Amino acid sequence: MIDVAIVGATGYAGQELIRILLRHPKVKIKALVSQSSANKPVEEVFPYFGKMIDMSFTNMDVLNVADAADVVFLSLPHKAAMNVAGRLLENKLRVIDLSADFRLKDKSLYPTWYGVSHIEEDLLETAVYGLPEFYRARIKKANLVANPGCYPTSALLGTLPALAEGIVDPSDIVIDAKSGASGAGRVPSDALHFPECNESIKAYKVGSHQHTPEIEQELSAVAKQDVNMVFTPHLIPMNRGILSTIYLKLNKKMTTDEAVGFYRGYYRRECFVRVLKKGEFPQTKNVTGLNYCDIGVHVDEDSGRMIVISAIDNLVKGAAGQAIQNMNIMFGFKETMGLI
Ligand SMILES: NC(=O)c1ccc[n+]([C@@H]2O[C@H](COP(=O)([O-])OP(=O)(O)OC[C@H]3O[C@@H](n4cnc5c(N)ncnc54)[C@H](OP(=O)(O)O)[C@@H]3O)[C@@H](O)[C@H]2O)c1
Repeated sequence: MIDVAIVGATGYAGQELIRILLRHPKVKIKALVSQSSANKPVEEVFPYFGKMIDMSFTNMDVLNVADAADVVFLSLPHKAAMNVAGRLLENKLRVIDLSADFRLKDKSLYPTWYGVSHIEEDLLETAVYGLPEFYRARIKKANLVANPGCYPTSALLGTLPALAEGIVDPSDIVIDAKSGASGAGRVPSDALHFPECNESIKAYKVGSHQHTPEIEQELSAVAKQDVNMVFTPHLIPMNRGILSTIYLKLNKKMTTDEAVGFYRGYYRRECFVRVLKKGEFPQTKNVTGLNYCDIGVHVDEDSGRMIVISAIDNLVKGAAGQAIQNMNIMFGFKETMGLI
């Protein structure tokens, strides 16, 4: 058994961590940290956890958290996680950070994309990018895991196999992605107000979304060269789910049968990636509440393009579920434990 703490436990991803961890047979939740709900019983704040968990939220106290737990999930907004991660690590905790604070290797990207200078630059080198399908061995030994972003998870799982095998052109990648509103977290905003976003779909942060350098970093690492990538996010009127449609330029002729066969072979041992049959394409409702990434593949032979479509639940494979998958790897549990 291991003891876990969640910091930022009242957020969307934090609640999802509680929900999944309550059913994990090797985990005991020991601390739930919240500024806004400190000292309130969990079931008072979230009635749906009634009779499921008998504890209260607490204020952040690094030593208390370190005393209580073996591993801590940081489910805080960007820029808040870097303020506490170092002290938690010094106190011998293993840290899984759901924010972007340790995902980028190049510290100079933080002021540009997150409007902040990094205060824990040394940790950027030791942090391991927590995409299990590609970094499992490193995650196992890591003390600090940078859990990937939701859009990056969907984009990378769809793109990396073809890039890794040199099947597609690294200088010609187009990622068109759509997310439900929970991707932006709980903090209200005009754009996420129900009448503003319901019955409507729009692109946002075109050419400027903060996940762009993360996707580029990981695509380039696997391609072993700089990639050229266009990423356009869209907001769609649903609570959760991401669907990415990825357009890749083939380096050689390939049929849909071959492309589907390649993706199925590539992910055949992966427990959380499901490559659909030829002619079948993913939809978000098939992954809602689940840690799966569903992938469909088609080749447009006239244009020489491979079209890869991937679907995840942004709060599960895109956040809490993947974080727990990483925890399972770090502590030598079966990777699917608590997740299926
Ligand atoms: N939503 C997604 O789909 C998704 C997917 C992947 C990754 N992520 C990342 O995961 C993290 C959490 O996301 P979320 O969607 O759960 O966000 P959220 O709903 O806004 O929750 C974040 C929680 O952090 C706490 N908090 C807020 N500001 C804080 C501050 N300055 N210092 C300390 N605590 C603060 C708040 O809880 P209290 O006030 O109760 O302390 C809040 O409930 C973010 O970094 C996000 O980018 C989210």
